[in-house]
Amino acid sequence: MQVSALENTFNLDETFPRSAHQPKHRKESPKLAIHVDEKNQTFHLQTDHTSYIFQVLAHGILAQVYYGKKIHVKPQYPDLLQHEMKTDTPAYSLDEPTFQKGDLKQEYADTGTGDFRRPAYQVSQANGSRITDFQYDHYEVVQGKKRLPGLPSTFDDTEDDAETLIIHLTDQLIQLDLELSYTVFPHQDVIVRSANFKNHGVEPVTLEAALSAQLDLPDKHYDLIQFSGTWARERHLIRTPLRSGIQALDSVRTTSSPQQNPFMMLARPNTTDDAGDVFGFNLIYSGDFLDQVEVDQWDVSRVLVGINPSEFEWQLAPDKEFQTPEAILSYTADGMNQLSQQLADFYGKHLVDPKYRRMERPILVNNWEATYFDFDEPKLLTIAKQAKKLGIEMFVLDDGWFGHRDDDHTSLGDWFVDQKKLPDGIGAFAGEVHNLGLEFGLWFEPEMISIDSELYQKHPEWLIHAPKRRATPGRNQYVLDFSRPEVVDYIYEMMSQVIEDTKLDYIKWDMNRYITEMFSANLPADRQLEMPHRYILGVYNLYERLTKAYPDVLFESCASGGGRFDLGMMYYAPQAWTSDDTDAVERLKIQFGTSYGYPQSMMGAHVSAVPNEQTGRITSLETRANVAFYGAFGYELDISKMSDEEAEQVKEQVAFYKQHRALYQFGKLYRLDSPFDGDGNVMSWVVVDDQQDHAIATRYQLLNHPNAPYDRLYLRGLNPDKQYRINDSEETYYGDELMNAGIFVGSEFDDSVTVKQSADFSSRRFMINVVK
Ligand code: GLA
Repeated sequence: MQVSALENTFNLDETFPRSAHQPKHRKESPKLAIHVDEKNQTFHLQTDHTSYIFQVLAHGILAQVYYGKKIHVKPQYPDLLQHEMKTDTPAYSLDEPTFQKGDLKQEYADTGTGDFRRPAYQVSQANGSRITDFQYDHYEVVQGKKRLPGLPSTFDDTEDDAETLIIHLTDQLIQLDLELSYTVFPHQDVIVRSANFKNHGVEPVTLEAALSAQLDLPDKHYDLIQFSGTWARERHLIRTPLRSGIQALDSVRTTSSPQQNPFMMLARPNTTDDAGDVFGFNLIYSGDFLDQVEVDQWDVSRVLVGINPSEFEWQLAPDKEFQTPEAILSYTADGMNQLSQQLADFYGKHLVDPKYRRMERPILVNNWEATYFDFDEPKLLTIAKQAKKLGIEMFVLDDGWFGHRDDDHTSLGDWFVDQKKLPDGIGAFAGEVHNLGLEFGLWFEPEMISIDSELYQKHPEWLIHAPKRRATPGRNQYVLDFSRPEVVDYIYEMMSQVIEDTKLDYIKWDMNRYITEMFSANLPADRQLEMPHRYILGVYNLYERLTKAYPDVLFESCASGGGRFDLGMMYYAPQAWTSDDTDAVERLKIQFGTSYGYPQSMMGAHVSAVPNEQTGRITSLETRANVAFYGAFGYELDISKMSDEEAEQVKEQVAFYKQHRALYQFGKLYRLDSPFDGDGNVMSWVVVDDQQDHAIATRYQLLNHPNAPYDRLYLRGLNPDKQYRINDSEETYYGDELMNAGIFVGSEFDDSVTVKQSADFSSRRFMINVVK
């Protein structure tokens, strides 16, 4: 295949997302975030509380100087660049025996010229050489932050003082330009980095690695905190000290994956939720990623964040460019609660579609665990009517409404209604739901194809497979080649039809398998490694077009639960199904772990039936709700089959949640007791409003112990000088008292609890309200 055939790819300019805001060259203002010392070529990026500094050294090499708590601006910081001459490191040249790349903290390192740590990029050239020599050329500073074409990315529509520094480097020999971009978001203490390669030469080059960010920290005294797991056990916190060598979290599944999440932290050993130094890293990307820390022989710790090079290559023809996804870097000296809060604030203002920033998410009922594939119109309408009675706001029809899908072997790709189940069509059914006064949502799995489908009859070649080889099924299904624009076009048309027929309010976009036999008939042999990234660009292209064409549809992403819980998805779909594990006890760890890197408003959390479908565990309706309240709340059980008493309880829960939903979804979250600490028997957290007038704390206990020791709950985030009541108590308490002396965990404030404290899996809610 000719390279020109590849021009048949997504037109990134056309898909430039909601590009209202174009950056302007900055006006001089007293609040500059980017300080440049022209003489010493020192760049000092300052946020409200942090400094990020690098400098251009001899030969145009960029050296990392400092990242951490804010320090004063100076022309340069020679002490921070000090290193000793080491005998086993190659020198830059015969004349400069002490200039050794391998001993420098570099900003975006190459390989093969003296630095033996893993590089930030690698470029192979027409002659087979992979040596490059990028040298600093010039810089520019622009005000604001523009979105990236074709990729989910940060933006500054709020005129929140963001400034972007672009460093231009060139490799003269092959005329390859490299732009390193740094946007400083001063008020959230976030720096967003990415890289862009532009080929101005006459021959193509191939990027074999192009990471988004590198950070060389001067020591190794950090704990790596990662969020790992698998299906139904997503984002469990693991904390381990850094050690010599490489520690990596990654995915090669073409999803960000439940096995490792792209969010990672580096914290000092004594850092807690409440205090201490911590860095957070994440990537705005939903495919194969790499988060890596390499501790070298001098205990310098190199962090790399970006697309996983092991499943990546990108050919750059002359005049073409490649833009990496964006990496998020954030730091605080005030502990992990502060880090999570500044990130949540940041995503709300600069990543999520502005209309969802503080939009309270609808309370929904989803029929999946209520009916699975076994439903018809009367059954669904019974649930919907009951939902309306209980005050629920949206009915979501999950898997099984299309083709002839009575189990998970068939019909993916056939996005038209199964008239056996819904005889009058999907539009008419949606009309019935709307007439009840409910919003209507539908499940899709747009990237998939079943062999037993009309789509496969028409387009067997669209199924991802390697020529003449067996294709590996996953959940009895296969994946469409989303790197091909015609496939994305086709699915777009089918989905549009349904969205318009149903006047749809919400889409649950699922993705239930990892990709195998990664190969595209659309790509020539030497470009097959472009496929994983091209696939993700196809997914983003479909999201982009749908969100643009149907701006009122709320998207919830899902990948067998929380398998694609990442910032790339968050850009298009402000909420995500956190896990297929709906057991309240399992959800404690899952939601607690998730909360480190992602806001509550993103976490889809539903009350489901007991015994629980995944664990068989029985928990009270009250505990199930107390867990699910800390997210985008809903129900996932047959509410039409509940006892009157249970239905009444649900009605109360719904009414209660509506009253406090803004606080649960957008309040500042403080983790108080971690289920990952000790025996994990207790977990608690609190959400606090912006005025520090209202807070809701919940303490969950797994197993009950007789004659248990006394326990106190130490609140956070209150105003020390304000007085509060707890659960309408007579007595009032100062904020400082509640935070420093804590609440006695007895039955004293426990008037909302119907399950006795003696029960296993109990939960206790503390409503904290300022005294007027
Ligand atoms: C996945 C999702 C579930 C449900 C099923 C339907 O497992 O995570 O919530 O939608 O698919 O097949």
